[in-house]
Amino acid sequence: MKDVYILAIESSCDETSVSIIRNGCDEIATVVLSQMDMHANFGGVVPEVASRMHIENITMVLEECLNKADLDMTDIDAIAVTYGPGLIGSLLIGVQAAKTLAYLYNKPLVPVHHIAGHIYANNLEKPLSFPLIALVVSGGHTDLIYMEEDYSFKRIGGTLDDAVGEAYDKVARVVGLSYPGGPIVDKKAHEGKNTYHLPLPLNDDSYDFSFSGIKSAVINLVHNEKQRGNVINVENLCASFQHSVVEILTKKTMRALKEFGVNNLIVAGGVAANKGLREKLTSLCSEENINLIIPSMKHCTDNAAMIGAAGYYAYKLGRRANLDLNAKANDALQ
Ligand code: KG4
Ligand code: ZN
Repeated sequence: MKDVYILAIESSCDETSVSIIRNGCDEIATVVLSQMDMHANFGGVVPEVASRMHIENITMVLEECLNKADLDMTDIDAIAVTYGPGLIGSLLIGVQAAKTLAYLYNKPLVPVHHIAGHIYANNLEKPLSFPLIALVVSGGHTDLIYMEEDYSFKRIGGTLDDAVGEAYDKVARVVGLSYPGGPIVDKKAHEGKNTYHLPLPLNDDSYDFSFSGIKSAVINLVHNEKQRGNVINVENLCASFQHSVVEILTKKTMRALKEFGVNNLIVAGGVAANKGLREKLTSLCSEENINLIIPSMKHCTDNAAMIGAAGYYAYKLGRRANLDLNAKANDALQ
């Protein structure tokens, strides 16, 4: 069978990224230009700044990726792009770049949902086996998804309020850690102990999650301790927060695997980089004989390689967009 080369573009938040992926699994070249240092000055992503930086960077990132791959546009079979969800001004730059390339070089245009990309980041590690459960944990999403086959997404539960990454970032800010807080809370958690014993959030028999309560519990705790003149042990508070979050995520995920009779689990999204979550899932899955795939660290956070992997399957299924494709800040995964 002829090889299929997908050129993928991702610009949904603060990373400008272009990648070339062969047959949905071979990463030929990827370039990721992160704007993190710029946004760190403001304590979070500033959408207007992100959008302007994507405009400045997109052509350069594209050229660098093609050079790195030693390919040109005639070698490419289709252009895949994240059309949503994400920051609208950021998404628009990637979508416009993809449409321009598709028009200029007369290539099919394949729209990819950002979360489908995070899920297919796992296909860059190992081919996915079905049926599977995907635990999606990012800055904007926390979902449990059942997949019977490629590109079939059935959401069985998810957060009712904050996404888990969002809760990590807020907790980091409250205890005075810099942006982005998730990885720093994770690091501190490994230096501390679960001494604050926070409750397990939404510890019920649904597959839903809630992280706003535990976030408020941390905020109140910090506030009360300050008023009493007590010093917070940041490492222990991070360890306590991480313990509760990892406990509830893994508890509901393992139950879903059992109840759906599935023995394949994949983890997706920025929080898949969390060491506590990776360790706990690795040990539970080995006890229960579950095949676990977690993306490598570089594929956990936003990148275009994952969009190229998902884009290949969307392309094979005949998913196409016209040149009137628009970016969507919110859209259900389907
Ligand atoms: O998937 P992602 O790059 O962007 C979205 O699509 O949202 O995820 C970013 C989120 C941020 O909230 C960041 O703090 C969190 O992932 N994150 C982590 C870790 N690394 C990234 N959260 C906890 N532990 C980590 N090691
Ligand atoms: Zn993401």
